[in-house]
Amino acid sequence: MNLEPNAAASGTFAIGDDLPVHRLGFGAMRVTGPGIWGDPSDPQEARRVLARLPELGVDFVDTADSYGPNVSEDLIREVLHPFGGTVVATKGGLTRHGPDEWQPVGRPEYLRQCVMMSLRRLGVERIDLWQLHRIDPKVPRDEQFDVIRAMQGEGLIRHVGLSQVGVEDIEAAQAFFPVATVQNLYHLARRDSEDVLEHCEAHGIGFVPWFPLAAGTLAKPGGLLDQVAPRLGATHGQVALAWLLRRSPVMLPIPGTGKVAHLEENVAAASLELPDDVFAELDAAGAAAWAEEAAARSGG
Ligand SMILES: NC(=O)c1ccc[n+]([C@@H]2O[C@H](COP(=O)([O-])OP(=O)(O)OC[C@H]3O[C@@H](n4cnc5c(N)ncnc54)[C@H](OP(=O)(O)O)[C@@H]3O)[C@@H](O)[C@H]2O)c1
Repeated sequence: MNLEPNAAASGTFAIGDDLPVHRLGFGAMRVTGPGIWGDPSDPQEARRVLARLPELGVDFVDTADSYGPNVSEDLIREVLHPFGGTVVATKGGLTRHGPDEWQPVGRPEYLRQCVMMSLRRLGVERIDLWQLHRIDPKVPRDEQFDVIRAMQGEGLIRHVGLSQVGVEDIEAAQAFFPVATVQNLYHLARRDSEDVLEHCEAHGIGFVPWFPLAAGTLAKPGGLLDQVAPRLGATHGQVALAWLLRRSPVMLPIPGTGKVAHLEENVAAASLELPDDVFAELDAAGAAAWAEEAAARSGG
């Protein structure tokens, strides 16, 4: 493996056709406290993680107003403003009532407040990529899309993304604005968004898999990667990320961490090339593990 980790080795993807980023990005949800609530337990280490991103070629940073809340956006501004070549993608539409509590609110006036406050916190005049964190089922979907279209028209948002949606949601949103990215739960052993990924690939939409390391589970021994990782001289987490990068050219993984050592390890996955047979072996094992889990969940 390349000893000098750099996200450039993962290749580039142009968000909305005009905003190129290195495909291996960073998820900034973990630079907050337990339950994604409050300050991180080691704020200086969190700052070091963010400061290290440009040095490692990571130029796509995913965050949300609800991470902390506000803590992640505030730290990103403190450490990385005025951002240079870094694309900061944020989200809105989820409220927080305590650790691990998330409630969608999609009323147009609230979504507008989310965007206005993220602009202030990040210290920018336009958000490069603003993602609707969840479609609020209590509010007509079109009302949520309509205010986003208006804010894009006003120049507050450059590109729009959706999160945790199906193909039909994406098609409905396209009547209001071009959908530049979709962020859904997806990793080697979590495959229920394959249809969404295929739709994104067919339409040049960036697919941002959240929990790319299964919230850390895939980075630990004792699972699907036990055989493959030692054979490749890589860590479990690196193999999980390399599988994602190879799975699709529109894949933009955003592994999250509050530790510099883990960040460096994750970025090094950009240089890990999986041989064809290893990719196929992992693909089949992950799909089978997910099929088994999905069947157990549905009681089948
Ligand atoms: N759209 C949505 O609804 C949604 C939901 C969840 C997350 N997200 C986004 O997706 C990003 C990624 O998700 P995530 O951060 O929750 O999960 P993840 O990337 O799958 O895993 C992160 C967890 O793995 C650990 N980890 C990371 N690198 C490691 C390594 N090399 N070795 C061992 N452990 C490692 C981290 O702990 P340490 O801090 O100890 O390294 C952290 O607990 C988030 O940061 C956020 O931006 C979006």
